[in-house]
Amino acid sequence: MNMHVFPDSDLDLSGVPSDLMRLIKAQARKSNVNRVAIVGGVVRDALLHQIHQTPLQKPQDLDLVVEGSAYSLAKVIKKVLGKERLSAFRVHKDYDTVEMVLENLSVDLATSRVEVYKSPGQNPEITPSGLVEDLARRDFTVNAIAIDLFTQNILDPFNGKSAIKNRQLEFLHSRSVADDPTRIVRGARYAARLNFDLSSQAKKQVQSTLNQWPWDWAKGDPPKQAPPALATRLRQELELMLDQEAWQSALENLQKWGGLLLLDNGLQVDICWKRRIRRAKRLGISPLTALIAGANEPRELASRLQLPMHQQRALAENLEIQKFVNQVNLSKEYLQWPKSQWCRAIENNNWHPDSIAISICLGVPNWHLLLQWWGRWRLMISPISPKTLIEQGWKPGPELGKELENLRYKAIDSLSNNANPSTL
Ligand code: CTP
Repeated sequence: MNMHVFPDSDLDLSGVPSDLMRLIKAQARKSNVNRVAIVGGVVRDALLHQIHQTPLQKPQDLDLVVEGSAYSLAKVIKKVLGKERLSAFRVHKDYDTVEMVLENLSVDLATSRVEVYKSPGQNPEITPSGLVEDLARRDFTVNAIAIDLFTQNILDPFNGKSAIKNRQLEFLHSRSVADDPTRIVRGARYAARLNFDLSSQAKKQVQSTLNQWPWDWAKGDPPKQAPPALATRLRQELELMLDQEAWQSALENLQKWGGLLLLDNGLQVDICWKRRIRRAKRLGISPLTALIAGANEPRELASRLQLPMHQQRALAENLEIQKFVNQVNLSKEYLQWPKSQWCRAIENNNWHPDSIAISICLGVPNWHLLLQWWGRWRLMISPISPKTLIEQGWKPGPELGKELENLRYKAIDSLSNNANPSTL
């Protein structure tokens, strides 16, 4: 292992509040911490800016690694900063890490550690270590560069800087993907966002690990049998990926590398995901749910990824809706239907608007009518209020309810046909 240590004189870290860093450094010295360093995305992005003139964004979060107890140091920082400057303080005892929000910047303070994955995809077992060993356990060499706050030097033991120069994503060790397959999703996200590519070695590792997927848990096994830690991490990484601006090219990367096999065989060969996700974003529903809707087994996948219950329900209802629209479409009876009949059919089934939205994203037969319901018809109310009807002699009760419903349906039927709530 060769170690490059050089002064960071021309590295632009202007997004990192220097007074905070000075304070953390001073408290670390007082607390007998051997070393405290900035690691991960902030260092990578500063080097990207320096080498390729990539515009520098204000950091959303900052990762700090401590050779010593992160918790002890965090407690001192908390005391010195007080409630005004420190708005969150969450301790994760298992990993000796502390998440803090310091002056609107989210800071993760972690004790440097090595990780052992007893079985693939599970949470690792950890032991405290030195900073370089901590860098070695990470995902990509570009994320394994540190700036030592005491010496101001950059530590780049795995040639991350040269990978940044070549825009290459290189795993740090040969079991990286087997230990944590979500790193394929991270790679797809970085490749799209930073305009990088997996190195040929990294591509080989992805292929050979995916060939063995899903290890000790097979298709048809109960979803809960999937390692829960992996399911949660996978969902979080997918959400991050679909949330970022370059989601389209990230998902293209993932599919190109075979990474959608982590989710479902159908998704690996799916050619309609772009339309589904674009529509989901416009309709304001979860893009991940829309992605999953195209899987061979959407409900199983949603349960395996531990999607929130309402999203799992929406996927299940979507299957009912698909059945319904396919039947109606086959019989052609819908051709005679007034708009109100679509409303009755949807509303009598009590399908949630999000479930209808998923069917729209999928482009089921007559999806444009479902879109009319979703965007306009469902929001309409009777043009005559209950109060006016009572004034006209109606008695409060079920009959009045029926009349309000009829008035609403009449108003919907009188809408012109080209009323399009939004273009998708
Ligand atoms: N990490 C890892 N394996 C994972 C997740 C994270 O090795 N599955 C390591 C990486 O070294 C990463 C660091 O933990 O740099 C922090 O993770 P995260 O906050 O997710 O990434 P950032 O470094 O902040 O980079 P970005 O936010 O740009 O993705």
